[in-house]
Amino acid sequence: MAGSQTDTRLGGVERDGVTGARFPAKGSVRPMTAGDLASVLAIERRSYAYPWSEGIFRDCLRHGYGCFLFDDGGPVGYVVVSCAAQEAHILNLCVDPKARGRGVADHLLRVALERAEVMDAETVFLEVRPSNAAARRLYDRFGFHEIGRRPGYYPAANGREDALILGLPVLSGGFG
Ligand SMILES: CC(C)(COP(=O)(O)OP(=O)(O)OC[C@H]1O[C@@H](n2cnc3c(N)ncnc32)[C@H](O)[C@@H]1OP(=O)(O)O)[C@@H](O)C(=O)NCCC(=O)NCCS
Repeated sequence: MAGSQTDTRLGGVERDGVTGARFPAKGSVRPMTAGDLASVLAIERRSYAYPWSEGIFRDCLRHGYGCFLFDDGGPVGYVVVSCAAQEAHILNLCVDPKARGRGVADHLLRVALERAEVMDAETVFLEVRPSNAAARRLYDRFGFHEIGRRPGYYPAANGREDALILGLPVLSGGFG
């Protein structure tokens, strides 16, 4: 990687010693298929208090949404992105708890953004809980910014939680 004379490890993650950028996680990304759903649902249920149902994943596959899986000897994470009318929406991004903190989400998010660019999206949107520190830090690093808030959008243990709506413009030649 360019400018990486002094590679270092921070928090168990390999980073470029000059820029601090993560090196890609080991493993590879491939399209999700219906045959992956048992593994995907197991990760989903380990990760969310209010997980998606199998039917939601099947609908996403049937509608041709971008459903990508990070495979490291088996599924360890996935992203779902829908693209229409110059908008992309990241609907789910999830990494198995045992595979977190080594750049898998970073890699999946890049794949989703590439898909948005190929599909001619002008803006990428997503929703996140204000309390989700790991996800917010990831999205901050990619340049997502807050463009709105849906009050009481998510179910929560003590009532409801707002959703932050984040956006990222797709600039010609990359993301801004
Ligand atoms: C959010 C999530 C996808 C991140 O996956 P991951 O593979 O661990 O992410 P990465 O390794 O690419 O790291 C992403 C960033 O989050 C940071 N991070 C990880 N855990 C964190 C925590 N508990 N608090 C704050 N930051 C955290 C990492 O340090 C990294 O930022 P950095 O590169 O600036 O240091 C994962 O935690 C997850 O699946 N959570 C449950 C599902 C979810 O909430 N999805 C997002 C819905 S909007």
